Amino acid sequence: MKAVILAGGTGTRLHPLTLAVNKHLLPVFDKPVIYHAIEKLVDAGISKIMIVTSPHHIDSFVKLLGSGQHFRSRTKKGKQIQIVYAIQNEPSGIAHGLYFAEDYIGNDNCVLFLGDNIIMDNIAPSIKKFKKGASVFLKKVRDPERFGVATIDSKGKVTGIEEKPVKPKSNLAVTGLYIYDNTVFKKIRQIPKSKRGEYEITDLNNLYIKEGTLNSHVLKKEWFDIGTIHSLHEASVFMRKKSNNERKI
Ligand code: DAU
Repeated sequence: MKAVILAGGTGTRLHPLTLAVNKHLLPVFDKPVIYHAIEKLVDAGISKIMIVTSPHHIDSFVKLLGSGQHFRSRTKKGKQIQIVYAIQNEPSGIAHGLYFAEDYIGNDNCVLFLGDNIIMDNIAPSIKKFKKGASVFLKKVRDPERFGVATIDSKGKVTGIEEKPVKPKSNLAVTGLYIYDNTVFKKIRQIPKSKRGEYEITDLNNLYIKEGTLNSHVLKKEWFDIGTIHSLHEASVFMRKKSNNERKI
């Protein structure tokens, strides 16, 4: 399976940090934000990754990540990691960003990782098990209104998702990790622009819900969405503590 990491957007909630630097390049303790998504995917056995970002920042990503050579040492057999790049000219939404990967994905299924997310669970088993439809990864949170919010049935099938609802129907936030079968690109073409002028990931996921093919996994470990200065700091503190604990072992 191939993966797409989205690293565009505007990062306005992190101003002035993101006036000159793309949010995904900011440090979380000892690594840039985007390293966490790449490492998670490489650890799950994915070796082909497309990074979609804005024309203003693509040079910095190429400088930092090159063709992916730094991540080879994380694989068991020193497997080649191939990172390629695509440009999203305008930040017209997450589903819009994914659309640029259609030719790259070809006939394959794909993992979509929002590059500002840090997920501590092992995602390899869910990726290996995936066959068709789509999967979202949910996390119980105290402030669901900040995210896409899902309702699920007793089998984990998603019955509804609302984007940043004022009155959330559950405490299950939709995290920035998704697995899609190859019908995803046909579905993206069906969604209209939302009121705020974006092609929304929630509208895309709702098309899978309509078909009854959106499954879910509930994450058990920590999850960070580096959307605010507080979450950036919180993730850095967590990583520092983790690194100190690993040094003690
Ligand atoms: O982090 C999980 C949340 O991500 C979900 O719960 C929401 O359902 C989903 O809409 C999204 O919400 P955010 O408010 O966090 O989205 P944001 O605009 O911050 O963008 C998320 C990532 O996608 C970030 O890494 C930037 C990238 N992006 C975003 C847009 C709008 C792009 O690459 N291009 C874009 O056009």
